[in-house]
Amino acid sequence: MKSQMVLSCLLALVARAVASIGDSTFHQGALKCTSKPPAFFLAGDSTTAVQSEGGGGWGNGFLSFLKAPAWGVNLGHNGATTVSFVQGGDWANVTDYVKRNTRRFDTYVTIQFGHNDQKPASNISLSQYQANLERLAREVKGIGGTPFLVTPLTRRSFVSEHQTDDSLHDQRLATIAAARATNTTYLDLNQASMNYANRIGNESAQVYNLHPNDTTHLNDYGSVVFGRLLADLMIEKRGCLERWIGPNETLSYDLWHGIPA
Ligand SMILES: *[C@@H]1O[C@H](CO)[C@@H](O)[C@H](O)[C@H]1NC(C)=O
Ligand SMILES: *[C@@H]1O[C@H](CO)[C@@H](O)[C@H](O)[C@H]1NC(C)=O
Ligand SMILES: *[C@@H]1O[C@H](CO)[C@@H](O)[C@H](O)[C@H]1NC(C)=O
Ligand SMILES: *[C@@H]1O[C@H](CO)[C@@H](O)[C@H](O)[C@H]1NC(C)=O
Ligand SMILES: *[C@@H]1O[C@H](CO)[C@@H](O)[C@H](O)[C@H]1NC(C)=O
Ligand SMILES: *[C@@H]1O[C@H](CO)[C@@H](O)[C@H](O)[C@H]1NC(C)=O
Repeated sequence: MKSQMVLSCLLALVARAVASIGDSTFHQGALKCTSKPPAFFLAGDSTTAVQSEGGGGWGNGFLSFLKAPAWGVNLGHNGATTVSFVQGGDWANVTDYVKRNTRRFDTYVTIQFGHNDQKPASNISLSQYQANLERLAREVKGIGGTPFLVTPLTRRSFVSEHQTDDSLHDQRLATIAAARATNTTYLDLNQASMNYANRIGNESAQVYNLHPNDTTHLNDYGSVVFGRLLADLMIEKRGCLERWIGPNETLSYDLWHGIPA
């Protein structure tokens, strides 16, 4: 009896180890955590950005969980695409932060776009979007940082009570393809946020809107809720960061059990 239990425990451990080797082939972009604390620089559009009149994302909510001396800066820019973020100088600010801090910190850059790249007016094809993400990820690695490619936060617009319109489907796939092409870890925020929105349903999902009819941007509370989701996804892919990201077990429980937070 006892030896059977030990055996099944061992088998479970082996299965997990095999699963994590499989995962590391594609998703684990960089090295393990070192003894240095982490610093996070968030690159993205308004669904990452600080809450303001014209936008607001998960960025500040995520940063609110960090335990000093871990720290981060939300460099999300309202309206940004993978092109405008570079041309407008935001990306140079991100890479400056990485360069100035790699000596004392493990520097991480989250890269999340798609909501504006997908608009016809931006004139960015899906393959250009993917190539741009690949270039950004490679650049972070080239200066000693670790990129996370983040699939775009779902819009909370529904076709029925428990079904969002999945409007970023193609951008999710292109982001994952960019991660595979560059051996970068990706965080599937699109899938996780869409699953959550679908489970809690349209009515409950509108609580997080920046304005009552704004199903794209997040208010302060929405930032904490979806920032927590991002934190949980990050810890899942890179467990050694857990000591730097404070928990909220109640919120995590709700998020992963489809309970409206
Ligand atoms: C992917 O990155 C990891 C961590 O840097 C590295 O160990 C591995 O060799 C890389 N794999 C490929 C196929 O480049
Ligand atoms: C980049 O950083 C500088 C210095 O903090 C700031 O003045 C500038 O507005 C930033 N650029 C963008 C596009 O945010
Ligand atoms: C859209 O992008 C394509 C490819 O880069 C370019 O040839 C075309 O001129 C652009 N169209 C507009 C309206 O900017
Ligand atoms: C979702 O909820 C909003 C706000 O209550 C409502 O305007 C919209 O019609 C609902 N959508 C669906 C598909 O039920
Ligand atoms: C929200 O949308 C509804 C229906 O589309 C509209 O009647 C209402 O005026 C809008 N509210 C705001 C604050 O824009
Ligand atoms: C965890 O999150 C919930 C929901 O946002 C909040 O009410 C609670 O205060 C948080 N708990 C802690 C310990 O921060």
